[in-house]
Amino acid sequence: MLRVVVCVSGGGTNLQAIIDRCADGTIRNAQIVRVISNKKDAFALERAKKAGIPGICISPKDYSSREEFNLAFQKGLDEAEPDLIVLAGFLVQVPRNVVAAYPGKIINIHPALIPSFCGKGFYGLRVHEAALARGVKVTGATVHFVDENMDSGPIIIQKAVDIPEGITAQDLQQKVMREAEWIILPKAIDLIAQGRVVLDEKTKTTHILPE
Ligand code: GRF
Repeated sequence: MLRVVVCVSGGGTNLQAIIDRCADGTIRNAQIVRVISNKKDAFALERAKKAGIPGICISPKDYSSREEFNLAFQKGLDEAEPDLIVLAGFLVQVPRNVVAAYPGKIINIHPALIPSFCGKGFYGLRVHEAALARGVKVTGATVHFVDENMDSGPIIIQKAVDIPEGITAQDLQQKVMREAEWIILPKAIDLIAQGRVVLDEKTKTTHILPE
C-alpha cells in the first residue's frame, strides 16, 4: 500500500479528487496517511477531517526563520513515512532538504501544459490569465516530478483542454481543474502505486509501462 502525504494551501479540490478516487478504487493500492497545509484556514484541512485523514498545519509564519520552517516541514513529512508526496495546490516552494530527502518521490500538479506558463509567479489564476493574454487556443494541466527548481521536474502526465472564445480566467481555471487536474493527478498516483512510472534520471523524462 503506497503511503501518500498530500500538501495543500487552499480549497483542496485536487485533494478531494484523490480522496474520492481512492474511495471508488480508481486509485489502487494507495492511502493518504497525512495532509499538510501551510495555511491554518485552508478548506483542504476540512476536507481531510471529513475524510478521517490526519491533517496538520505547518506554516512558515510559525517559525522564526525559513531554515526552521524547512526542518519542521521535513519532520512533518518524515513522521508520516511517505512513499509519495503529492503537492496539490501547495503554494510553498519545496525546500532543498526535502527534495534531497525524497528523490523521485514528490509530484506536483500544475494548471498549464509545461513548459508553457510555469515557473516563478505562475500559480493559481495567474496561469490562466497569462494563457488568455497570450491567446493560446489550448491549455491544460501537467503532473510532474518535483526537483529543486519550480515546475521543472520530469513530466509524468499532461491533459489538454480547449479554450472557448470569450471564456474568463476564472471559468477557464474551473474548466482546467474539472477536465484535467482532477483526472490526471489521481491517474498519476495510481500509475506510481502500480510501479508503472519509470523515471529516466539521465534524460529527465519518464516512461509509462503498459498495464
Ligand atoms: C488550482 O489552480 C490548482 O491548479 C493549483 O492550485 C489551485 C487550487 O487547487 N495547483 P486546490 O483546489 O486547492 O486543489
